[in-house]
Amino acid sequence: MSIKRRTRVREALTSCEVAKEITVMGWVRTRRGSKKIAFIALNDGSTLNNIQIVADVPAFHEDLLKQVTTGACISVTGTLTQSAGSGQSVEIQAKSIKLHGPADPVTYPLQKKGHSLEFLREIAHLRPRTNTFGAILRLRHAMSYSIHKYFNDNGFYYLHTPIITGSDAEGAGEMFRVTTLDIMNPPKTEDGRINYREDFFGKETNLTVSGQLEGEIGALALSDVYTFGPTFRAENSNTPRHLAEFWMIEPEMAFYDIHDNMDLAEDFLKYLINYALEHCVEDLRFLNDMYDKELLSRLNSVTDSDFVRITYTEAIDILNSSGMKFEFPTQWGADLQSEHERYLVEKHYKNPVIITGYPKAIKAFYMKQNDDGTTVRAMDVLFPRIGEIVGGSQREENLQALENRIKEIGIPREELWWYLDTRRFGSAPHSGFGLGFERMMLFITGMSNIRDVIPFPRTPNHAEF
Ligand code: 4AD
Ligand code: MG
Repeated sequence: MSIKRRTRVREALTSCEVAKEITVMGWVRTRRGSKKIAFIALNDGSTLNNIQIVADVPAFHEDLLKQVTTGACISVTGTLTQSAGSGQSVEIQAKSIKLHGPADPVTYPLQKKGHSLEFLREIAHLRPRTNTFGAILRLRHAMSYSIHKYFNDNGFYYLHTPIITGSDAEGAGEMFRVTTLDIMNPPKTEDGRINYREDFFGKETNLTVSGQLEGEIGALALSDVYTFGPTFRAENSNTPRHLAEFWMIEPEMAFYDIHDNMDLAEDFLKYLINYALEHCVEDLRFLNDMYDKELLSRLNSVTDSDFVRITYTEAIDILNSSGMKFEFPTQWGADLQSEHERYLVEKHYKNPVIITGYPKAIKAFYMKQNDDGTTVRAMDVLFPRIGEIVGGSQREENLQALENRIKEIGIPREELWWYLDTRRFGSAPHSGFGLGFERMMLFITGMSNIRDVIPFPRTPNHAEF
C-alpha cells in the first residue's frame, strides 16, 4: 500500500517492535489520569481492544488535552512500549497528538456507561463505535467473506440477480412497488385503473423478494450458482426475526435432488459457524460474555451435530402429542409457526431440524410435487433460538406439472414465459435454498433482535439513517 502509513490498533497491539515510533488514529473511548499523566483508550474499529496512549500532561497544550474526550477523533504519534499496566502488552508513549474532530462531552450520546440496545437503535449512526456493534459488524464482514469463499472453493459461480423485478417469486404478494409515476396524478386506463404502460419500465415492477427465479436460469446454464444480495418484503411483521430489507444467500444447483440440497445446506451452515469460531474468536467471546453465556457452546454443538431430518407430517404428529399448549393451531395443513419450530428444535430434538414434505398449499408454486398429490419437496432448516433459518426446495422441472400448478394458483402465466422456457428447453432436475443472512447473524452473534445484526435496519415505520 502506498497510502500514508498509519498503524492499525490491531497491528499495534500484536506488534513486537517495541521502541518503534508509530502513528495510530482513532476515536477516544475514555480518558483518565492526573494532572501529570493522562491515559487515553483509543479504538479504531480494527479490533475489539483499545490501545492505551500515555501522555505526559505538561508536555502538551492544555487546550488540546481538554478536547481529548470520549468520542473525539485523534492521531497519536509516539513510541510503542511494553505496558506496565495489566490487560495489555503494549502501549504508546505519546510524542504528538493531533485532534481531528472533538466531541462535546455534554451532547455526545455514547458516554462510558453501558447503553441499552434499544437506545443504541435510536442512534444507529453512532452505534458502530461501541464494542458491541464493532464486534457484530466485524463478524458480519467475516461471514460475508466466508460465504463467498465457501461457494468459490466448491465451484459455484456468483450470479448477480436483479433488484428490480416484474415478478413475485414467492407468490406472497408482499412487495414494494417501484414506480416513477406521479402518485398524486397517475395516468389511467379507460376503465379507470392506473396505466403502468406509462410507467418507467412500461409495466408494473417491484423490489425483488428473492433472486431464485433468475438463479434457476443461472443453474440451468452454469450448473452451480449462488446469489448474495438484498431482498425486500413488505410484510407487516414487527418481530425480532423480520426485516423489510434483508440479505439473502441463494444457491441453486442443477442435478441436485432434495437430499443433495439438504446435504449442501447442512455442510454450508456448519462451515460458516466453524469459520466464525476459527477467525473471530475474540469478538465471539465478547458477545458470549456480554449477552449470551451459551453462545460459544451452542455454536460448537451445532457444528458437532447431525441435523435431524423429518417430514412435515411427522412434525405435526410430534407437536400434537407434545402436550404443549401452542398459540397457533397444529393441525395438518397449517403452516408451522416459530413457536412450533422452536419446540421441535429446542425441546424435542435439541438439535437443528430439517423438515421436508410440506403441504403444497402453504408453499410456493415452483416446488416439486410429490406423487401423493398433496405435498411438495420443500425443506426448511430450523435452528435453536431462530426457528426457520433456511427455506428451499427441489424445483418442479416438468413443464406440464409446473403449468398446471401455476393455473391452479392463478398466477398470470404471461409474466413467467421466460421461466417456463427453462422447462421447455433442456429442463433438468435442480434444487436450491435461501439462507437469511441476518437470521444467520442472529445465530452467530447470540443477539436476540434482528435489528441489532444489520447496520441500518428497515422495519415498518423505520427507515431512518
Ligand atoms: O423461505 P423464504 O421465503 O424462501 C425464499 O425466498 C426462496 N426463494 C429461497 C430459495 O429457495 N432460493 O426465505 C428464505 C430465508 C428464510 O428461511 C429466512 O431465513 C429469510 O430468508 N427470511 C427473512 N429474514 C429476515 N426478514 C424477513 N422478513 C425474512 N423473510 C425470509
Ligand atoms: Mg420460508
